[in-house]
Amino acid sequence: MSSGHRVARLGVLDSADRPLVTPSLLNCDFARMTEELEALREAGTVAVHLDVMDGHFVPNLSYGPPVIADWRKRTDLPFDAHLMISEPARYLDDFVRAGVDVVIVHIEVVPQPVSLLRRIRASGCQASLALNPPTPVSAIEPFLDELDAVLVMSVMPGFGGQAFEGSVLEKVRAIRTARPGLRISIDGGINPSTAGEAHAAGASQLVAGSAVFRNHGNYAASLAELVQGARRGRQRGDGPVSTAESPSLE
Ligand code: DX5
Ligand code: ZN
Repeated sequence: MSSGHRVARLGVLDSADRPLVTPSLLNCDFARMTEELEALREAGTVAVHLDVMDGHFVPNLSYGPPVIADWRKRTDLPFDAHLMISEPARYLDDFVRAGVDVVIVHIEVVPQPVSLLRRIRASGCQASLALNPPTPVSAIEPFLDELDAVLVMSVMPGFGGQAFEGSVLEKVRAIRTARPGLRISIDGGINPSTAGEAHAAGASQLVAGSAVFRNHGNYAASLAELVQGARRGRQRGDGPVSTAESPSLE
């Protein structure tokens, strides 16, 4: 994989329409990933979200760099890699080599993340910090200038199919106010209705697992429902609403 491809993939991600819906691959048929990735792409997916779990930071296991490297051979879709692992610094190079594009690490495991964030960016990837529902915005606030995106968890990480925690929308609003141009992702329990609340609060990227894959065979319909739900919520409007993310600030 050449770094030129990564630049191109990140260009696609940055220039995509908002809200950006990124399917979480957890609910895919892992025995048919080539077909799944192609079906998602044909349905209009611009990027996919990879949930990496180590059985330590979260009480579940998923997949790691060798699996991702094989998927990378099959698709040019940008990979938004959510590392729910206790030692992201130890494994960063493996994920970069495997072909991920956005590296998301949890502030709960790296409370002083500056050197890791700089390593991520120096590798050609975008850097993002995730925060769990109980973690306050103040934990990431000192590092916002080191970031290409923030991931606000709207469930405790580890499993798909959980209920959306609306209380985290306050954090989305606070981050949006502090950084009007930053990509803000929200992850967990997103459906057409919660997509509307999250987008109105300022989330520009919606990660969705169950809501995309419950509709097996018609991913395009699921994606369209999520985008419509998000736009409707925003029109109803309860949040500070500057949708325009300026690429220079991302
Ligand atoms: C949770 C993961 C999410 C999750 C999304 O640990 O980070 O990406 O799988 O799944 P749904 O949309 O089903 O909550
Ligand atoms: Zn995730």
